[in-house]
Amino acid sequence: MFVRVLGSAAGGGLPQWNCGCPNCRSARSDDGRVVPRTQSSVAVSADGERWILLNASPDLRQQINAFDDLGPGARSRGTGIASVVVTDAELDHSLGLLLLRESDSLVLYTTPSVRATLTEEHPVLPTLDAFCDLEWRPIEIDGNGPEAPVERLGIECTAFALPGDPPLYSGRAPAPGDVIGLELEAESGQRLVYAPAVAAIDDRLYERIAGSTVTLLDGTFWSNDEMIELGAGTRSAVEMHHLPISGSEGSLARLTALDRVRLVFIHINNTNPILAEDSRERRAVEAAGFELAHDGMSIRL
Ligand code: MLT
Ligand code: MN
Ligand code: ZN
Repeated sequence: MFVRVLGSAAGGGLPQWNCGCPNCRSARSDDGRVVPRTQSSVAVSADGERWILLNASPDLRQQINAFDDLGPGARSRGTGIASVVVTDAELDHSLGLLLLRESDSLVLYTTPSVRATLTEEHPVLPTLDAFCDLEWRPIEIDGNGPEAPVERLGIECTAFALPGDPPLYSGRAPAPGDVIGLELEAESGQRLVYAPAVAAIDDRLYERIAGSTVTLLDGTFWSNDEMIELGAGTRSAVEMHHLPISGSEGSLARLTALDRVRLVFIHINNTNPILAEDSRERRAVEAAGFELAHDGMSIRL
């Protein structure tokens, strides 16, 4: 299985257009301390030709243009994108769907609750369907159980429910299937866990990560009050359903014993101090054996 990180930042990207935090300032300059990053998306492929997008970010056009495999190749019109899986209805994971409107047809996998959000509350899917032939395939996590196979994907894949809530723009009460993670199995038997929005690491998620070869894990925030302290927002990490990296219950402390798993932070918010190559937080992450995803990162399983 081929894995390609298309975008490694959280919502807003790095630099975020209106943000003057130290990381965004550094990413805008050429001081080399903070590498720019686009918004959260990954592509996976069994054969290196037909690719499955895991989330569709607002930066998708730029991401496709930076990765020839997703373009038309020698065809007059065409794409290497075979299908798209969307793990939640957040804007950074779903706005890019509209950028695929020039497709002839598009195969989309979501849970029923994400489909409902993207149909009724933010009608991305009806809009898209007016331009291209949209085929929705359900991931059956909707109170029916904590996990479900993702059928006909072309890669062995299990989706699993994660605690979380619908996006800020949604008025709905939380429902199972609002946020999922994915476990993909390569022909070699090696497994990739993709979980860009993790509110908590319960025993079930811990075991899944422990059984993976590589985990791409929510690295949104270093600390709970990071946005508030920088004057960049009013909500804490916990309120945004992102488990911070630091602290005694943070992802670093919880997973540091898993030294056989390649742990890679993804969906990293522009305020996160690990993004600065000379920060003590970056040193702490690296000393614990964790990596940071970067745009264009390739992994082979
Ligand atoms: C999230 O990951 O929590 C959201 O993308 C936040 C946002 O709306 O930027
Ligand atoms: Mn996000
Ligand atoms: Zn910023």
